[in-house]
Amino acid sequence: MDRLSRWKRDVEAFLEEALPAADEPPRLLHEAMRHALKGGKRLRPALVFAAYEAIRGEGAPAWVAQVAGAVEALHAYSLVHDDLPAMDDAQYRHGLPAVHRKFGEATAILVGDALQALAFEWLAGAPWPSPEVGLKAVGILARSAGSRGLVGGQQDDLSLERREAEEAELESLYRRKTGMLLEASLRLGGLAAGATPEEEAILSAIAGPMGLGYQVADDVLDVVGTLETLGKDGGLDEERGRVTYVTLLGLEGAREKALGLFRQAREAALALGDGAQGLQEIIAVMAQRVATAREMQA
Ligand code: IPE
Ligand code: IPE
Ligand code: MG
Ligand code: MG
Ligand code: MG
Repeated sequence: MDRLSRWKRDVEAFLEEALPAADEPPRLLHEAMRHALKGGKRLRPALVFAAYEAIRGEGAPAWVAQVAGAVEALHAYSLVHDDLPAMDDAQYRHGLPAVHRKFGEATAILVGDALQALAFEWLAGAPWPSPEVGLKAVGILARSAGSRGLVGGQQDDLSLERREAEEAELESLYRRKTGMLLEASLRLGGLAAGATPEEEAILSAIAGPMGLGYQVADDVLDVVGTLETLGKDGGLDEERGRVTYVTLLGLEGAREKALGLFRQAREAALALGDGAQGLQEIIAVMAQRVATAREMQA
């Protein structure tokens, strides 16, 4: 089994075990939380494991799956809220009906609230090497998720409907709405492995272009992908009149932009040496998704 499949299996085993059972009251809420965590590429958990391996030069111990699970729960919450009628009004996620369509809008809001809290419960409860490291980890995830991170990026994203924007504005927004959680994933894996401040800085240097590239790639996939290939509704950005990298640079320009950013991320990862092979593989997977996007279009 290759690394990426193993990491996916490990985080899914953690989630299965640690999420409240679907029949534990309030049943509707718990069933909906489990629904929200079905499917997905699990790339953020993979980044946690890969960063650990890159720093330590060996596979992560079992408890790191809890850190990976925390990051995935935070991500899943962000998607449940992102799909709400008040936000992107999306119908599908991970090949399934969006949480609000299956369980109702109010429950979807509560699912997001509960998953965000659960992410911090898991993160704080992990057996970090010291209490100081654990506290630092909680601070990193909190900052990436808040109004100066993901949520602030989402707020700015909403204001881009039917309004012109410069590339610099879009870049700042993407770094927050998507990049900061990817950076947190890498830094948390690094912290678990006992990364030095210098090593943490390398992980952040990888995360910068990777995070921006990942959202630019998502813009491309929104145009060329379909429900079948993406598991979520394609074409929503255009329908909503959103400014994206595709509207700014054109489809091909946005694709080249993403690929260039992924190249930069891979170069930054060279500083971590052989242990970073898993990290290199994840970035290659991210790049492959936009590269095949061109074929779908052709
Ligand atoms: C979707 O992320 C939202 C973005 C920030 C681009 P992913 O593509 O990583 O989500 P999964 O894999 O479907 O969960
Ligand atoms: C969402 O960006 C990023 C989040 C922080 C949830 P998008 O709205 O483009 O993500 P998708 O396309 O719905 O996955
Ligand atoms: Mg959105
Ligand atoms: Mg969306
Ligand atoms: Mg999108």
